[in-house]
Amino acid sequence: MRNKIVAGNWKMNLDYQEGISLFSEILNMVGDETRGNQQVIVCSPFIHLYNIAQQSKDSSNVFVGAQNIHQNDSGAYTGEISASQVKSTGASYVILGHSERRAYFGEDEKLLEVKLNQALKNGLNPIFCIGETKDERESGEFWDILAKQLKETVFLLSNEDFAKVVLAYEPVWAIGTGLTATPEQAQEVHAFIREEIAKNFNQEIADNTSILYGGSCNPKNAAELFSQADIDGGLIGGASLKSRDFLDIINVFNGR
Ligand code: PGA
Repeated sequence: MRNKIVAGNWKMNLDYQEGISLFSEILNMVGDETRGNQQVIVCSPFIHLYNIAQQSKDSSNVFVGAQNIHQNDSGAYTGEISASQVKSTGASYVILGHSERRAYFGEDEKLLEVKLNQALKNGLNPIFCIGETKDERESGEFWDILAKQLKETVFLLSNEDFAKVVLAYEPVWAIGTGLTATPEQAQEVHAFIREEIAKNFNQEIADNTSILYGGSCNPKNAAELFSQADIDGGLIGGASLKSRDFLDIINVFNGR
């Protein structure tokens, strides 16, 4: 069966010392409080990756990821970081397709397909995000838009590579806004995504894919969201910056 996952996305927050101490707190709390019913992934800025990957080396359920990679192997791309460089820190995941990268850095499906292959070729598991804007939801066109975001990216992968992908449904109107999709709205989209996976690959692959919800997820709303049949956990922004809040979300899977 598919994994339950709570992933944190620190975005461009925390200096070096703050990041390494937050991570060590999270690691200790996961060890003390949880029963290992879920995986935890912390996606930090590049500067923290090596340190926190070392800290989590002996943990069987806490992993580390980056928030971006460049599409090329190496070369004259001042300021960029490649998939193999991320991999060499000990990180094992990378977020791709986040709406902030799509909106502020012009990342489109074509580029994301290249980045997906780059991640997979270098042994990084993608956490691939899709989601509609407020206008797209209100116009009713969002089903087609979500289907396109899948078809032109992760659905082009081989069965074997797709099995390494974690999907995240993040309605853009819910990210950092305090507006959460209702559990029913989220479940409806997650079920749709799973059906699309079954159509494109097969039912077994669809049943084994973890699909996370993201967008103003917090300790108050996580339990209801995660209790939906097709929601396998969350991708958490703001609430992943506080160890207590993050653990309370993780503990939804630990009966606390
Ligand atoms: P948020 O961010 O939890 O702060 O809304 C989620 C995300 O962008 O992944």
